[in-house]
Amino acid sequence: MPNNTHFDTTRANVELSGAEAVDLLEPDATVPALIKDFKGNMDLAALEAFIRQKGPAQIPLVMTTLTNNSNAGQPVAMGNIRKTSETCRKYGIPFFLDACRFAENAYFIKTREAGYRHESIFNIAREMFSYADGCTMSGKKDGLVNIGGFLAVNDDRLAQLARNILVVTKGFPTYGGLAGHDLEAFAQGLEEALG
Ligand SMILES: Cc1ncc(COP(=O)(O)O)c(C=O)c1O
Repeated sequence: MPNNTHFDTTRANVELSGAEAVDLLEPDATVPALIKDFKGNMDLAALEAFIRQKGPAQIPLVMTTLTNNSNAGQPVAMGNIRKTSETCRKYGIPFFLDACRFAENAYFIKTREAGYRHESIFNIAREMFSYADGCTMSGKKDGLVNIGGFLAVNDDRLAQLARNILVVTKGFPTYGGLAGHDLEAFAQGLEEALG
């Protein structure tokens, strides 16, 4: 499973499922002395080569982590998110975001990427998510809450499979996981993070 850089707990979950977690970060992103606007980007050439080498059927999904926490919290450019998505769609592979710091990443796009200066953080976030088939979200970051997170998918069949797994990890969707007040705080936090 390719990612720009897996966060360590994401890597652990991927590998527990039997997959191999592979980081495909742009090479110069690991040079601290180099000043660049977006050092969290996926290496697009490496991604394409990886898919061709392994074959799309071997790759359950591709993920982009924004911002890229395990590479010093560096942001990912909108152009890079869009092109990663295009590559995934070309090969029929789902594309997911690790969206912990989506609002922060949107802010970097607004202030650093050409064409976004006059766009709202909300609209930038909406464009980022439009390229994805789903996301994981740890609410402790840009959800501005003490606890909680979610998985979002645009595929009802996949959502049902995830709900089934939830029964053995958190409990039934109707009573496992987060309490109602945690969910309300989370919803409010997401709005405030975009404000
Ligand atoms: C990018 C990223 N993904 C995932 C996680 C994991 O979040 P949680 O501890 O809520 O499972 C973190 C936590 O810091 C993170 O920074």
